[in-house]
Amino acid sequence: MRKIIITLDGFSSCGKSTLARQLANELNYVFIDSGAMYRAITLYFLRHRIDWNHQVEVLNALKNITLDFQYNAETGKSDMYLNHEDVEVFIREMQVSENVSAVSTVKEVREFAVAQQQLMGNKKGIVMDGRDIGTTVFPYAELKIFVVADPAVRVERRYKEMFEKNSNITIEEVKNNLESRDYIDSHREVSPLRKAADAIELDNSNLTREEQLEIVLKWAEEKINKSH
Ligand code: DC
Repeated sequence: MRKIIITLDGFSSCGKSTLARQLANELNYVFIDSGAMYRAITLYFLRHRIDWNHQVEVLNALKNITLDFQYNAETGKSDMYLNHEDVEVFIREMQVSENVSAVSTVKEVREFAVAQQQLMGNKKGIVMDGRDIGTTVFPYAELKIFVVADPAVRVERRYKEMFEKNSNITIEEVKNNLESRDYIDSHREVSPLRKAADAIELDNSNLTREEQLEIVLKWAEEKINKSH
């Protein structure tokens, strides 16, 4: 059966990664969380005190960054590796979340990440989630999904997820972080978050994980059958 490319874009904490991972599992496709790549770059910049507003510093730093994903048999998920170190836990911390949107506005950072993402898709059979996957990374993807959810629902979901790791976190902090990332992600100059003209919108505010997977699987099967 011919393989296709599936993109999932949308604001932070819409449940894109969970859905993309489930979908990839069902179809036996590769799942790539592109946000993890921007997070790993941000972690490197923070650790090495790189000034991301300084073009030469950024370009030199990027030369020292190797990113890859490796399967973790314990969790059944792929972990993000930065220069051969598993950084999956560190990239989810608040300090990275607070700076990742700013780092993602930098043109050189985007070019670096997008080039690697495009290589990952050259054999198709991939589900990638992010902000610009349907618009910039794979503009010719066979299936593009734009995920939306009620802001209050997103804050609640994100808060639950963060609270499990850090019980000092407040709902206000989570809400402010989401609002500021939404703003930066959709207003930046280079490939801002946009719904591609040919993307299908999925509002999952009132859907369970099983329900949304069922809907999206149907869309994927239709596209796969059509691409024969
Ligand atoms: O999906 P996430 O919340 O882990 O993404 C973290 C940040 O990375 C997000 O706020 C913006 C940036 N990002 C991006 O600019 N383009 C992508 N394709 C994916 C993420």
